[in-house]
Amino acid sequence: MASEELRTDIVTLTSHIIAQQQKSPNHTRGDLSLLLNSIGSACKWISNVVRKAELLKVIGATAVTNVQAETVQKLDVLSNEIFINLIKGTGRAAILVSEENEEAIFINAERGHYVVVFDPLDGSSNIDCGVSIGTIFGIYHVVNETEKPSLKDVLRPGTEMIASGYCMYGSSTMLVLTSEGNPVDGFTLDPNTGEFLLTHSQIKIGKKKIYSINEGNSYAFDGAVKAYLQSVKFPEPVNGKVPAYTARYVGSMVADIHRTLLYGGIFLYPTGKLRILYECFPMSQLMENAGGKSSTGRKRMLDVVPDKLHARSPIFLGNTEEIEKIEDLYKKLD
Ligand code: AHG
Ligand code: MN
Ligand code: MN
Ligand code: MN
Repeated sequence: MASEELRTDIVTLTSHIIAQQQKSPNHTRGDLSLLLNSIGSACKWISNVVRKAELLKVIGATAVTNVQAETVQKLDVLSNEIFINLIKGTGRAAILVSEENEEAIFINAERGHYVVVFDPLDGSSNIDCGVSIGTIFGIYHVVNETEKPSLKDVLRPGTEMIASGYCMYGSSTMLVLTSEGNPVDGFTLDPNTGEFLLTHSQIKIGKKKIYSINEGNSYAFDGAVKAYLQSVKFPEPVNGKVPAYTARYVGSMVADIHRTLLYGGIFLYPTGKLRILYECFPMSQLMENAGGKSSTGRKRMLDVVPDKLHARSPIFLGNTEEIEKIEDLYKKLD
């Protein structure tokens, strides 16, 4: 290949994180950069296990039921161990909260001033059939560096989250990241070099009208959600044109949110299955930083204060216009 066809303007996840650190007022610390880099490494390792799962026979269920009363899959366990070990290795985390651990993990690290909340493997029901799955994470700084870390460092509103993101193990492995005051950027794993490369700079939510919901739960939907679904299936003409909606539902939050970010639309999980700390908050911060909105239906999702580690909430995320339709319906029907 002629040299002019090779790209040399390479931005790796690491160089991007360092560039953002240098712009930030706390740039002397570099602790957050170290943590984000270790999350990048964890996602590469998980991606590697996911890609080989069928061949290595790590697909299938364990005999364990987790705190969520779900049957734990072997990949849930492996991903959790990889994530925990790589974060611990940085010495910068004080507390870890995982979907797969009932209790918070307190780490006795001298310089650990961060809380990392995560869903190591999202979309467990899609593992055995090879459909896209992911990892979700969020980071808080401890409330006070001089105090002993405690649950009050964790049970805080999403507005206090300083960084969040997800990695999707799909047709390619993509890491999507945002942090306080920064845009949402996407990196694609280059299997040849093993590097995450910046491929989607400053993602803004798309404009397509796609709605995404598990309608098998319809019996449990309230009036506002039923009215919203009616309005997208039988839309009223706007300026003489009927807006056509498309339905898409993968069943892995990471994949459904990734599509919603890139193409546009709305993701609804109204029955309160999704966990606030490590599913709802990170995805809400990403959605807001990409120009969209996230709501419980009755208030901004990021303003919620979880009362326990694995607390759950109804959630609606997507284009501002669609989320406001839902919020208006709740106001009208409550
Ligand atoms: P997890 O696999 O981490 O337990 O999360 C599953 C979640 C989420 O990925 C998805 O949005 C939702 O469960 C799908 O649930 P249903 O299959 O019940 O619709
Ligand atoms: Mn689970
Ligand atoms: Mn999940
Ligand atoms: Mn999970």
